[in-house]
Amino acid sequence: MLTLSIKSVILYFSQVVTGNTKRIAEKIAEGIRSTGSTCELVHLKKFKDDLGIIKKMDFHQYDLIGLGVPVYYFHPPYHILFELKEYPSLNGLKGFLFCTSGGNPGSTLHQMKVILKNKGLQVIDGRDDWIGWDVHQMYGHMGGWLPSSRGHPDEQELNEAHEFGRTMVQKCLNQSTPEKQFWEKDNPSAKMWTFEYMQEWFPEFHLEEEKCTKCGYCAEICPVDSIVLDPFPTWTKDCDRCYICELKCPTKAIWCDWTKQRKYLDDLMSKARKKKT
Ligand SMILES: Cc1cc2nc3c(=O)[nH]c(=O)nc-3n(C[C@H](O)[C@H](O)[C@H](O)COP(=O)(O)O)c2cc1C
Repeated sequence: MLTLSIKSVILYFSQVVTGNTKRIAEKIAEGIRSTGSTCELVHLKKFKDDLGIIKKMDFHQYDLIGLGVPVYYFHPPYHILFELKEYPSLNGLKGFLFCTSGGNPGSTLHQMKVILKNKGLQVIDGRDDWIGWDVHQMYGHMGGWLPSSRGHPDEQELNEAHEFGRTMVQKCLNQSTPEKQFWEKDNPSAKMWTFEYMQEWFPEFHLEEEKCTKCGYCAEICPVDSIVLDPFPTWTKDCDRCYICELKCPTKAIWCDWTKQRKYLDDLMSKARKKKT
């Protein structure tokens, strides 16, 4: 008998503040399930735990593997890139990739594909054009978010994600689905923000001890487990520079000096405006 359903899994990372990639992942899963196929969702949250999850997973029980990320500085979040290198062999398996971004994903999916192809995964599709509400401390002087990203992913994008899930099942079952090509070129900012240079270029973390209640929320939400309480929060290693700790600190005890970065952003935006006129 002809099998028309598949067994699939989607692994994704998505920040606690915005949850954009999570919403898209859930819609794709819904689309896949609407065909009678199964789709499990694995929410990657913390580097150390993620590695344990990935190592224990039996990927070869699935026909299709999806991977979703937010875009950080024109890359997949670096801790996710490091994790991808730890995946076991995915030889003979099919997969798809997706990301949400403020509108400039750069070569994020291509970067993921290169690593996963080395693991043997055949990447049959992907989407990098879904927008997600972009909240970053760099936009603090502009109201705290990128105006054009507000309200995203919107209904149309969520419907597209559902449909994307449905078509993934057909593409997975079709033996002649070709490999998907993604945008490969990095822009100058993407080249500049290597993991090492990011540590130098983005601001340091400061703590006002008299405001800090040592509640530990910053450590709990840090995706790379960089923060430990000693007894106050201490940043122990290089991180993804997501600044979620600063954004979400309940007593605003964590602060960073964004003067240089905001000037860089303003200059970039004014150059882009001049080009348009
Ligand atoms: C640290 C950081 C860096 C980001 N860098 C980019 C970027 O280079 N290009 C872009 O279009 N969006 C960028 N964004 C926006 C996010 O990709 C976007 O908000 C995404 O939808 C967040 O997904 P999530 O809610 O699942 O975490 C960045 C956001 C953060 C927090």
